[in-house]
Amino acid sequence: MAKKSKKAKGKAASKAPARKVAKAARRPAAKKAVKKNAKPAAKKSAAKSAKSTMPRISSKPFGLDGKALQGVRILDFTHVQSGPTCTQLLAWFGADVIKVERPGVGDITRGQLVDVKGADSLYFTMLNHNKRSITIDSKHPQGKRVLDELIKSCDVLVENFAPGALDRMGLTWEHIHKTNPRIVVASIKGFGPGPYEDCKVYENVAQCTGGSASTTGFRDGPPLVTGAQIGDSGTGLHLALGIVTALYQRTRTGRGQKVSVAMQDGVLNLCRVKLRDQQRLKAGPLKEYSQFGQNIPFGDATPRAGNDSGGGQPGWILKCQGWETDPNAYIYFITQAPVWGPICDLIGEPTWKTDPEYATPPARLPKLMQIFDRIEQWTKTKSKFEVMELCNAHDIPVGPILSMKEIAEDQSLRKTGTVVEVDHPTRGAYLTVGNPIKLSDSISEVKRSPLLGEHTDEILRDVLKLKANVIAEIKASGALSAPEKKEKAA
Ligand code: COA
Repeated sequence: MAKKSKKAKGKAASKAPARKVAKAARRPAAKKAVKKNAKPAAKKSAAKSAKSTMPRISSKPFGLDGKALQGVRILDFTHVQSGPTCTQLLAWFGADVIKVERPGVGDITRGQLVDVKGADSLYFTMLNHNKRSITIDSKHPQGKRVLDELIKSCDVLVENFAPGALDRMGLTWEHIHKTNPRIVVASIKGFGPGPYEDCKVYENVAQCTGGSASTTGFRDGPPLVTGAQIGDSGTGLHLALGIVTALYQRTRTGRGQKVSVAMQDGVLNLCRVKLRDQQRLKAGPLKEYSQFGQNIPFGDATPRAGNDSGGGQPGWILKCQGWETDPNAYIYFITQAPVWGPICDLIGEPTWKTDPEYATPPARLPKLMQIFDRIEQWTKTKSKFEVMELCNAHDIPVGPILSMKEIAEDQSLRKTGTVVEVDHPTRGAYLTVGNPIKLSDSISEVKRSPLLGEHTDEILRDVLKLKANVIAEIKASGALSAPEKKEKAA
């Protein structure tokens, strides 16, 4: 192993994808192109700096010159939802994501909320597309050596273990940075440094501690968590941005850095308008909140706003035809000031256009609920899609409450690749959400999630360049298999 390690080290270093990119940036072709066009001195120096960072403009058609993150290799130590969301995004953009899983067990979500016996759950498959899976016991001495080799071969290590777990594996920042100074080490934890830094955190804990739950729900009800996974998936998104930013900085500095996102911080970032309102309370009641019109006094913290819109344009959820039996026969209706006239005409209250009691936004604020009641009398006579059509003809912003069934069946979302059908060897076809970020030159395809350890041999052979006898030696040590097998092998 030691001998092979050296070899792997040398090859990994010389093949580091980032270096390839940097090399490409220094291609003489780019130099020539710049020289030809830039004559005056100022232009020359601008061109000189551009020359040092930019490769020649590709002449290939858009979408045919590789993917955005092609050449970036990620050592993916993530599990459950937050970390996997991040690495799945990077994989969609073309990064080679190597998911390290505990032998015999894997990511715990493989076996959670199982709907097809014996197959990986949708919980797992829908968060781990386009990745490769290798099983390694990270606490086994041989496993640690394999991991060190992988660290040398990767551009990014991503993890969302409980605080201290990575250190307990011996993978401290110091060790990782010393092993590969170019690697970016990205982590998600529940909290940043402070009184709660050692706590384990799941989605709803983050929603509660990041300010979302206290500001969601109705004023006279308890705090509510939202269906959108802003704690997990939201933090994964933040981390992905941190990673690509660190990779971009590395093209200049040559070195990796730590990227950390706390779930509490990620949620708070998404709740910033509520911190805005907290400060506005000092200046008086929040007039766009319907409780203002109801003469209910404000307390000392941002209240729950029900379905009030978060901005300056009042909105509310209104019943549509069929609401008595269909829990989603509703529409979000925004009384945007510039289209107040068409709203009045549509609902049959043309006099409200000029009546000083209704004609201006400040006049309407104290009676928002009464106005929405009147609009609802109209929406209740139409289906949510009819309201959508009638209102959009006048640029009135409305949004039908779409059920997950309606979204799953929506053909326009299928066409854009936002909802994708994927085939899987053990569970068959299923629907997933594809890459919501569309790049015109980096086309995303959604490939099924890996089976547990499906790529173990392939990664040892093709990434670490290990010979078959060395791979067999590592396997026999028990570093890649579940503990029971380890005992047998010993
Ligand atoms: N080989 C050997 N051991 C492994 C391993 C591998 N390949 N992969 C994981 N483990 C071990 C870890 O080292 C750890 O052992 P230790 O506690 O003895 O050091 C153990 O598995 C459990 O890891 P942990 O992260 O504590 O998992 P958990 O199931 O107890 O907790 C979370 C799950 C999500 C609560 C926790 O990981 C966490 O708080 N993460 C940060 C916040 C986060 O991302 N939360 C949202 C998740 S969607």
